[in-house]
Formats: sequence, C-alpha cells, structure tokens
Amino acid sequence: MANASRISFPVQRFPFPDKKMKNTPQIIYSKKQAGEPIVSLSLYDYPTARLADEAGVDLVMVGDSVGMALFGHENTLGMTMEHMLYHTAAVAKAVKHALVVADMPVHSYHDPDLALLNAQRFLREAGADAVKLEGGAKVQLQVQKLVTEGISVMGHIGMLPQSVGEGKYRVYGKDPEEAEMILEDAKLLDRMGVFSIVLECVPAKLAAEITKAVQCPTIGIGAGVATDGQVLVFQDILGIRSGVSPRFVRRYAKIEETIKKAAVDFCRDVRAKNFPSKKESF
Ligand code: KIV
Repeated sequence: MANASRISFPVQRFPFPDKKMKNTPQIIYSKKQAGEPIVSLSLYDYPTARLADEAGVDLVMVGDSVGMALFGHENTLGMTMEHMLYHTAAVAKAVKHALVVADMPVHSYHDPDLALLNAQRFLREAGADAVKLEGGAKVQLQVQKLVTEGISVMGHIGMLPQSVGEGKYRVYGKDPEEAEMILEDAKLLDRMGVFSIVLECVPAKLAAEITKAVQCPTIGIGAGVATDGQVLVFQDILGIRSGVSPRFVRRYAKIEETIKKAAVDFCRDVRAKNFPSKKESF
C-alpha cells in the first residue's frame, strides 16, 4: 500500500506583499523551503481565534485538547464530531489569515469512508481548511483516502493523546525501536502527501532527524527547537489552565489572575450596591 505518489506543493507568492492573504496548506508547506518558522496555536473559540489571527499566527488548530482545556476532562477521549464541529465553526468564523486545521476526534476516522465523511463535514459545515488525525501506518488508508479526495491532511505522531491510556503521558521515541517506528511513520505520512506533521513529546534529537528526513514541515510540541514550527495550546501560554503545566509549555501571561480579579471585583461591587452606577443605568 501507500503507493500514493508524493503530492507536490508549488510555492505560492502573493502579488501584493503588504496585503496578507489567507494561508493555504501550500503556503504552510512552502515555509519549510523558505526557512520560515511556522507559528501555530491550538484554540477553540471566536475571541481567542481573532486575537491569534491578528497577532500573526500562521496556523490555528482546533485541537481536541478542548476536552481538557474547556470541558475539564482528564483526556481528549470524550470529544465527539459535534463538539469539534461547533468549536471549529467558531474559530473559522473569526480567522482571516491563519490556516484552520480541525482535529478529528477519536472514533471519527475508524475507516477510510468514515474519515472522508467526517473530514468533509469539517470543511463544509464548519469552514475548516484542513484536518488533522493521529497516527502513522495505522491510519495510512484514511490519509490516502482523504488526500486522494483533495482534502489537506496534517499528520500527528509521537505521543498520541487519543491512544494513550490514563497516566501514559510521556516522551515517545526514547528507545531506539520506538524512535525508528516514529521516523518510519513520519516518512510514510510525508510520502502520502500530508502537508505537515505534528511531532508531540519526542526527544529533540529524533525531531531534528525526522525534520531532515521529510519534505513536509514538522510542527513540534515538546519536540525541541529543530522542528519547522511550534504549536502550543493558547490557554497554556496565556496561563489560564490550572494545575502543573508540562515542561514544554512557556507561559507568556498570567490571565487566570486577571480573570479571577475581575470576577472578585464584580462580586464586591454588586454586593456593596456599587454596580451599576447612574452612568451605567438608563
Ligand atoms: O489537541 C491539540 O490541541 C493538539 C495540538 C496541541 C497538537 O493536538
């Protein structure tokens, strides 16, 4: 299998460089050849998507990590097509420039026909530009089907949150056999025509090796600095998620404190009858 000949992505140049155009999978792909790091955030709603887009993020993923970040679940396994369509539609509506990649939830791509049906729903009903699915050789028939049908696919290897049972969040590819499997998965996905691959929680050395071995860009999360791009969950860099952050997260803000203070201040004002004022009333 996997005879699908490598899809080539011609470099696209926008004729008016001052005007930002909507990113396409081809543009993201060409950033590797141009040596331009790809910036990506995983996010789930209209306001954060609008802000990330305005900030110049290249690609937004509507990750099934929404299950943990917004629903408070332990893992991503509770997410359904309906959840993911709902969040993808909100993000797609907000975004003008970034590429929108919808994460296909667990059980939504069991077989190639189901994968196609659900990927088409993301594009048609929610306005996504591409879909992401987890796995390498295990999902090759699904990837082949989607690519053949003209759907842009992002791969995801290394740690696969939909496959790890409780408590198995760890670095993948430390032992040589596992590293070899991950490398082979990357090469397979690349040959099959994915436009990029997420490498999650793999040693930096392995991520560098994979990045050299494949033509498509790699986007790392907990995969060191040598990947072609980086992705983090927006909530994590904003400092919204409670609890201990994984080692690969860098917090750029402490929004949780700001949000809590606003709520505390509102409670105080309402209870003290300091809100609303005359100016805030009709
Ligand atoms: O679910 C998610 O947010 C993801 C990205 C972080 C890669 O899969």
